[in-house]
Amino acid sequence: MTPLLLIGAGGLAREVIAAIAAVNSVRPTFEVLGLLDDAPDKHGSVVDGVEVLGPLDLARSHPDAQVLICTASSSRQDSRMRISRRLGFDDSRYATLVHPQASVAAGTELGAGTILLACAVITAPQQVGRFVVAMPHVLLTHDDVVADGVTLAGRAALAGTVRVGESAYIGQGALVREGLTIGAGALVGMGAVVLNDVPAGETWVGVPARPLEVTV
Ligand SMILES: CC(C)(COP(=O)(O)OP(=O)(O)OC[C@H]1O[C@@H](n2cnc3c(N)ncnc32)[C@H](O)[C@@H]1OP(=O)(O)O)[C@@H](O)C(=O)NCCC(=O)NCCS
Repeated sequence: MTPLLLIGAGGLAREVIAAIAAVNSVRPTFEVLGLLDDAPDKHGSVVDGVEVLGPLDLARSHPDAQVLICTASSSRQDSRMRISRRLGFDDSRYATLVHPQASVAAGTELGAGTILLACAVITAPQQVGRFVVAMPHVLLTHDDVVADGVTLAGRAALAGTVRVGESAYIGQGALVREGLTIGAGALVGMGAVVLNDVPAGETWVGVPARPLEVTV
């Protein structure tokens, strides 16, 4: 069994703990040593049977353990990239996690630290970036290119040949038309139907998706 530390003691970590139990029920693979979180009030608490051992930097004291960064928030889209830069580990320290009920086309390459939850589907071989999170029922189709740190919330779907830039966040149930580009750091709101390229850093919502007006 591979010893594993989970970073972040929030909702995604709970989903990852459940996904690991599903993986282990098929083939014993990971031994979860604990959770790491910078919030001192969480230290010593237990999340779904897993203890919060201390702050993130404790990962350095466990050089033999692999790591999964389990943070995902539309308000801190680049959190996994920032944490990975802070830790400075090379890719070999990071696990990849694929729920046994995900469907991944043979030949697909998943980057270090990437997490696919239940019923995520990748229909044709492609290269998925590092520290990508695909929540349940995400659909990636032929020739999509998903960069490092992208978050795809549940049921988000990319038609073919869509490019998603680093740390972009695609909200729950959003649909992206084929051939489009979602720029780095862009945010697509839940339920959006995206029919045009979304520029880097912009937030688009609605059907059809339009830029979200920022009122100061
Ligand atoms: C787009 C989003 C980030 C905006 O959040 P926010 O900045 O807090 O914005 P607010 O909720 O204050 O809404 C601002 C305006 O945008 C509208 N709006 C917000 N989200 C919207 C959406 N997804 N689709 C359409 N309109 C939306 C609101 O109705 C509001 O309109 P108004 O000013 O006319 O009243 C957020 O609503 C969203 O969709 N996040 C993704 C959630 C998600 O997928 N979570 C998955 C968790 S696993």
